[in-house]
Amino acid sequence: MVDVIPAPSGGAAYGDGSFELGPDTRLVAGEGAAGTERWLRATLGAATGLPLAPGNAGDAGAADNAGDVRLSIDPQVTRELGEEGYRMDVTRAGAHLVGGGPAGLFWGAQTLRQLLGPDAFRRAPLPGARWRLPLTRVQDSPRFRWRGLLLDVARHFMPKEGVLRYLDLMAAHKLNVFHFHLTDDQGWRIEIKRYPKLTETASWRTRSKFGHRASPLWDEKPHGGYYTQDDIREIVAYAAERHITVVPEIDVPGHSQAAIAAYPELGNTDVIDTTALTVWDSWGISSNVLAPTDTTLRFYEGVFEEVLELFPGRFVHVGGDECRKEQWSESVTAKTRITELGLGDEDELQSWFIGHFDAWLTARGRRLIGWDEILEGGLARNAAVSSWRGYGGGVAAARAGHDVVMCPEQYVYLDHRQAPGEDEPVPIGFVRTLEDVYRFEPVPPGLTAAEAEHILGTQANVWTEVLEDSARVDYQTFPRLAAFAEVAWSRLPAPADRDFADFERRMTTHYRRLDALGVAYRPPTGPRPWQRRPGVLGRPIEGPLPNR
Ligand code: ACM
Repeated sequence: MVDVIPAPSGGAAYGDGSFELGPDTRLVAGEGAAGTERWLRATLGAATGLPLAPGNAGDAGAADNAGDVRLSIDPQVTRELGEEGYRMDVTRAGAHLVGGGPAGLFWGAQTLRQLLGPDAFRRAPLPGARWRLPLTRVQDSPRFRWRGLLLDVARHFMPKEGVLRYLDLMAAHKLNVFHFHLTDDQGWRIEIKRYPKLTETASWRTRSKFGHRASPLWDEKPHGGYYTQDDIREIVAYAAERHITVVPEIDVPGHSQAAIAAYPELGNTDVIDTTALTVWDSWGISSNVLAPTDTTLRFYEGVFEEVLELFPGRFVHVGGDECRKEQWSESVTAKTRITELGLGDEDELQSWFIGHFDAWLTARGRRLIGWDEILEGGLARNAAVSSWRGYGGGVAAARAGHDVVMCPEQYVYLDHRQAPGEDEPVPIGFVRTLEDVYRFEPVPPGLTAAEAEHILGTQANVWTEVLEDSARVDYQTFPRLAAFAEVAWSRLPAPADRDFADFERRMTTHYRRLDALGVAYRPPTGPRPWQRRPGVLGRPIEGPLPNR
């Protein structure tokens, strides 16, 4: 039985019978296939205990197969299916995976692993296990080029091992953009060599609110952690080996209290005593935002200089969301700046602030991306937008000619609860079930074809205020990330026409894959006793799905 998730977009045909991998099976890799060969030998080698010995590279593209798993890249597949597309043929004589490029080959390898059965997701073989690939012909390529996952490692730190594990989980679901939310009011998580206090001071807090901000409970122990620059290099390289691009987010000018606590001169010193600020221990939107001064601009240019050295991807996320303006309204420095620049108000000041970094990044060959608030007050054409406050920001951005990543909170904020009722741990936000996510449509209705071209893709966001450890992250993220992956990858019909019953049927196998991977997902029947958080206050929002 074959239950591939995300469903191959070009369909898959299955015959009777199988090709069985054994001690003599060779893994034969042609030009451009070395990365996938390495991954398959390491991953399937561990799961199966088979040597998967290398073969003659010249045989990789040949039609006759002598019991091999063959990997090659073919320009014809590139033309027909793109760099991320692949074809797979499994006959009784062997398996042949042909990519449109190295990425396509890698995504094909993910399908191949799924076809071997859930035990192929373990790290050592069970006694007596057999490794059969069903006779298959698959043709596949992604719908969107940006298939993202945001992990908020600022509110609760996820140690490096956990991040590498999430990159593996992304790869298994053919997701290819890791949005790394590295800084916020509650913590700064990346080593910046020229500013050591960002890690000495801003990377930890003395205690944490347990539950939503209105909860009376505190976790009275220090919380913190950060990635060294070598950790970041390792993460970026590990992602690249999996054809995942890492988009770092350094949030400005709001969500910056941790940085101000470390370097008080970054704050609005003419309004409050910024030397009294600490890394925030509660949740919400802090009013302690960056001052719009040259000191701040130069400081963050220094931060971004180090960030650019670590992250080779084109996009750099600068946040730009939820910047409260009370301090700017009271600040003589901010008012003077507004006057000097000939701006109308504080919103235009924010636009100027973001515009500064847009020009700065563009001059260095990069592209700025920010949350949809950056549209307010005008935005340079080159900048891209993460549309989180519903579809509206994405529509406005696409109409104005900006590239867009759709991640509306009403659908794909995976910190939101996934069922009604008392049992969901720390219930916040809308009820968004597995089926709701499955029926999420990333392209907003009403766009012209040309405007829709600006929708780069879609992203699920995992904010961690109420997710204190990786088991809580797993619970909120899975199984919904599997539905999201199918939305992002497969060419599904319109939401109402999607076959959720078939997806659920395939999920019965996928749960076994997640079990083998050790993912603490939410079972379809509801949380296990230890997944509940009885008595911890959340903030459920009632209401119908908007914008459908
Ligand atoms: C956001 O959720 N503030 C981007």
